[in-house]
Amino acid sequence: MTGRVQGKVALVTGAASGMGAAAIAVLAEEGASVIAGDVDKAKLDGVVAELTSEGLAVTAIELDVADPEGWASAVRVAEETYGPLSILVNNAGIYRTPGVEETDQAVWDQVVGVNQSGVFYGMRAVIPSIRRAGGGSIINIASIHGIVGTEVGTAYHASKGAVRSMTKQAACQYGPENIRVNSVDPGIIETAIVADLRSQGGAIDELAQFIPLKRFGSAREIAKGVLFLASDDSSFMTGADLVVDGGMIAIQ
Ligand code: NAI
Repeated sequence: MTGRVQGKVALVTGAASGMGAAAIAVLAEEGASVIAGDVDKAKLDGVVAELTSEGLAVTAIELDVADPEGWASAVRVAEETYGPLSILVNNAGIYRTPGVEETDQAVWDQVVGVNQSGVFYGMRAVIPSIRRAGGGSIINIASIHGIVGTEVGTAYHASKGAVRSMTKQAACQYGPENIRVNSVDPGIIETAIVADLRSQGGAIDELAQFIPLKRFGSAREIAKGVLFLASDDSSFMTGADLVVDGGMIAIQ
């Protein structure tokens, strides 16, 4: 541990699994006090219990990012537990495969509600707390699917493009208050989302051949990018995209 976020208070959403679980571990190992939120509180409790048993400062809360009222109570609990927040990681997200004509209203509303509105609600609720902390860093997990297209996943692509765009808007608005806002754009990362696609019979593993590094990423490799953006090492970065994809969108 080198204490790269020593003494800072962080809130991470979607923390029960995948990149969110990796992010709470890495941030806590580097000295942050962490509020970990997820809609699946039972699963989250197990993940957090392991970290607290190692002496790390992590508190689990139930949080549905698509519920604005849930955000108000998350910020209240964070401030009561550890003080004002200076790091927000909007990580919770869901993937659904339908394309344009196949996407029904329920799928559209669900994906946009979690991935896009959830990020907006999170920034809106947490920014006053970051202001009370005297500044900080917001990291929104978008995707390379917010940059390039694929044949499927209309609502997902739309929501991730919106996350990148909101990130840049908020960076412009809050830069003067020393609140930095950046996005991380993961490529294909070995988490439940990829495992689900594999179990549905998708030929996902064949995609590795199109990645210059010839493999998928790990959740911890994304968490290292989150740590960089959360820490003062990225002090002159705001409104940026950190693409962490093994070169997948660099290749033509
Ligand atoms: P995951 O499925 O392993 O974990 C997502 C977590 O979010 C789960 O614990 C789930 O319970 C939680 N969650 C879902 N809906 C929620 C809600 N409404 N409120 C709070 N928590 C909720 O997913 P993974 O792969 O770790 O994804 C994390 C982020 O990275 C997502 O935003 C995803 O879109 C994005 N991403 C994932 C990629 C991948 O290849 N796995 C690639 C690019 C982006």
